[in-house]
Amino acid sequence: MNKFYLTTAIDYVNGAPHIGHAYEKILTDVIARHFSQRCDNLFFLTGTDEHGIKIQKTASANGISPKELCDNNAQKFKEAWKALDINYNRFIRTTDEDHKAIVQKIFKKLVENGDIYKHSYEGLYCSGCECFLNEKDLTEDGLCPDHLKKPEVVSEENYFFKLTKYKDAIIKHIKENPDFIVPQFRANEVLNQLEDIQDISVSRAKTNVQWGIDVLDDPDQSIYVWIDALSNYITAIGYDTETPSEQFKTLWPADVQVIGKDILKFHSIYWLAILMALDLPLPKHIFAHGWITIDESKMSKSLGNVISPTSVLEAFNLQQPDAFRYYMATSAPCGRDGNYSDDDFKEKVNAHLANSMGNLLNRTLSMLVKYFDGEVKEEFFAAKNDELVAGSLSLLKESLGKIKVVENHFNHFEIAEAAQEIISIVDAANKYVTDNAPWTLAKEGKMTECGQVLTTVLEVMCIISALIYPYCPNIAAEMARQLSFDISKKLDDITADEIKAGKLISKEEIKPVFLRLDSELADKSAKK
Ligand code: ME8
Ligand code: MG
Repeated sequence: MNKFYLTTAIDYVNGAPHIGHAYEKILTDVIARHFSQRCDNLFFLTGTDEHGIKIQKTASANGISPKELCDNNAQKFKEAWKALDINYNRFIRTTDEDHKAIVQKIFKKLVENGDIYKHSYEGLYCSGCECFLNEKDLTEDGLCPDHLKKPEVVSEENYFFKLTKYKDAIIKHIKENPDFIVPQFRANEVLNQLEDIQDISVSRAKTNVQWGIDVLDDPDQSIYVWIDALSNYITAIGYDTETPSEQFKTLWPADVQVIGKDILKFHSIYWLAILMALDLPLPKHIFAHGWITIDESKMSKSLGNVISPTSVLEAFNLQQPDAFRYYMATSAPCGRDGNYSDDDFKEKVNAHLANSMGNLLNRTLSMLVKYFDGEVKEEFFAAKNDELVAGSLSLLKESLGKIKVVENHFNHFEIAEAAQEIISIVDAANKYVTDNAPWTLAKEGKMTECGQVLTTVLEVMCIISALIYPYCPNIAAEMARQLSFDISKKLDDITADEIKAGKLISKEEIKPVFLRLDSELADKSAKK
């Protein structure tokens, strides 16, 4: 794998980030960190979607300019992603000058190629969706089904994009590439939507929408959000209608574009058509994740249950985002909806990260200190007890084999499924310790055997730290530090021979890698 380019949706900045937005950025960051363990040239793009009527209206309701609203809220998104250790390479704002200039050129090129034409139109516009809706998509009461608001009747002369021209090519692409839309069960939904697509409006009259990018040579029209927004995926890495940058040539097409299920139509239909019209290769995968509910109900301002990601960290006194990242990333099987609840969060991370994983490392290292003064002895590697050797070899083999299993899940963007495999290694290692009771071996004076059991577990912990790293980068780094393991190692280079003979650790250097939420210790360390 010589490059990996991945993107998230760019969020509307009419409000502050909530944990639905966070879910997507965490998933993408986990995927990015995993593939950075397999490839040297990885580029991770995220950002904000700042134009359109919704932003214009929110700004005017708050008595500030759209630019001020965007600046304030874009900053909140950046701060939230910092708190969550989202390690992006570029944060694009659709108000960035380089982006705006290229969007104008893209629009111009599409006009010149005959893919965009001007047309008078009357339609029903939902500002929540930032798109025109069909009569048949509305609820019985004539409301937008997603925003439960009545769309406005808009009658304007707009520019239209010839989506219908690309209909057959898109259907063909989706049918011939069953792994293009992830998860596959969503492809049928898209094929159904393709049945009755029409050409789409791609500009709005300046009289109605001022907050947008001007159409070159026709400043009475603003380029309407989707052409502007979708283009971010190529403008951010230096696309140009004339001379694209070297970076663009290397990175494009994207390896995966992560989005929510509500905007799959825009990404698997509109976006493909735009790329086809520009004669550019298509992204390899569009991964549509499900939605996050709060205590099983939809997050909404009217219900007053919108949770910001940083408020979760604060509520639990978390200095690091690892537990929240782990919980969110594993909250749903690939593409399905997930749920956030305080109790479930506490229970899951305490069970997986503290009791199973953290404790295992802590106990093992503590025994190494207690029995061997923290030293891994040469003879641990040359143990003679056949049964023990067989047990160790089988655990090591199973754990090493899981690296490929986890990689395979990531190839299919099965993030929660991959985590389950990692936890299964932790469980197997815990069982191995219970079965072989190193404390009993020590009591019986079988010190070499005792040391061999501990070393085997430490070896497995190196593999676990590497595999858990994408979800919990800080915890993984701390595990690796205590194991003297190089956490930046590529997955392919990891062996069952990472632990070397010699002094590994002293009593003072051992510390729990994750403290149970609500535990006395966690409270104390947070108060320090
Ligand atoms: O759609 N659970 O922006 P947006 C999970 N600007 N994901 C959620 C969610 C929830 N409760 N709520 C929102 C837009 N999302 C456009 C995108 S891309 C060129 C333009 C996800 O702020 C949603 O599915 O409404 C989308 O992928 C992202 O957050 C931004 O949503
Ligand atoms: Mg939305």
